[in-house]
Amino acid sequence: MGAGIVVVGAGHCAGQLVARLRAEGYGDAITMVGAEAHPPYQRPPLSKNYLSGEVGVERVLLRPASFYEENDIELRLATRVREIDADGSRVILDDGQSLAYEQLVLATGATVRRLAVPGANLPGIGYLREISDSDAIRAAFSEGARLVVVGGGYIGLEVASVAAGRGVAVTVVETESRLMSRVASPEVSAWYLERHREAGVDVRTGVSVSGFEGDAKVSRVRCADGSAFDADFVVVGIGIGANDALAAAAGLETDNGVVVDEYGATSRAGVWAAGDCTSHPSRLYGRRVRLESVHNAMSQAKVVAANICGKETPYDEAPWFWSDQYDAKLQIVGLAEEGDERVVRGDPGAGAFTVFRLRDGALVAAETVNGMRDHIACRKLVGAGARPSREALADASVPLATLAA
Ligand code: APR
Repeated sequence: MGAGIVVVGAGHCAGQLVARLRAEGYGDAITMVGAEAHPPYQRPPLSKNYLSGEVGVERVLLRPASFYEENDIELRLATRVREIDADGSRVILDDGQSLAYEQLVLATGATVRRLAVPGANLPGIGYLREISDSDAIRAAFSEGARLVVVGGGYIGLEVASVAAGRGVAVTVVETESRLMSRVASPEVSAWYLERHREAGVDVRTGVSVSGFEGDAKVSRVRCADGSAFDADFVVVGIGIGANDALAAAAGLETDNGVVVDEYGATSRAGVWAAGDCTSHPSRLYGRRVRLESVHNAMSQAKVVAANICGKETPYDEAPWFWSDQYDAKLQIVGLAEEGDERVVRGDPGAGAFTVFRLRDGALVAAETVNGMRDHIACRKLVGAGARPSREALADASVPLATLAA
């Protein structure tokens, strides 16, 4: 048996990848090296039903720990890869050991951006990416406790909604003029602003945090406009960046992520990459994209596993994302840009609607609130580059499935 495959990372993408390798019939050694102590798990519940305490650790694990043993996949958990020696076809671990490989897969994921303001290292200021982060935030929930959330994106707003449901007094501070501006249209932002306000969350947009104050722990959040908020704890969700430093140090091409082609191959033969850490060419958008999504992690993993096993499968899917806040489900397919035209179907006031985004007549994205069936139809339409008429899109009596191409 050869040196086999080493996978750097043990997140959702890596977990899917190793399972797919075995499913594709890969028979050599597979070793997965992950910095966290847990076998691969799903991150989305960490800001949703795991944070609320509705589900426990066993429900977030991608597969039971026994799966890896049964499939002869070696897990090196609580272990970091310190360096990739690409010329020597080996990785060097933080304890100095090295692992030889025939093929290497980077599934290193992403890291939260940190706030760089005075007081940012005070205890009581948390981020959310790992199980232990979610545990720490849940432990601070109590009736009447004051939480300041920095960042009105997916993470901040999901945490705000769970916390508000637990009787926590929540303030959200967002630098942009509206919520989720990176991913959502003004209509969707406005709808969610209403939901948060109805739940008693104090949402402040257009406001930047300038510093934190407190003695033993954080007790006050100061903002650049002079406003200040008392806080018993703080959660910061201001975005994530690709973990591509290891690849860059090994001489692989990186550009806001590890650069891969449509097959998941990096600039170095025998080295592949998949998931949040990558930047890949998108046929649909005619440019490189770096996606932060479970769908992307799962799909790229599948493609890379197939290609390692000798297939030639390009990755070409419309990206999709979702967010659960209160009892509302937001599902987005595609990547919109600021100037894209917007067409609304349904009545936001009635609690279910879709905002379509068009660019030069093509449907490039769709944001659906509480409408699973419409979202599924939109995945097909966006993936196919459909060019539906604005009138048909706006007319809820016209089934979306009839608008193909
Ligand atoms: N102060 C306040 N808000 C800020 C600041 C700041 N200094 N810097 C950035 N923001 C805001 C951004 O304007 C944005 O609305 O924080 C928000 C971050 O939102 P996202 O980019 O969606 O990032 P986040 O919520 O951290 O989620 C990161 O985790 O849920 C997963 O994969 C999902 O892409 C998502 C990722």
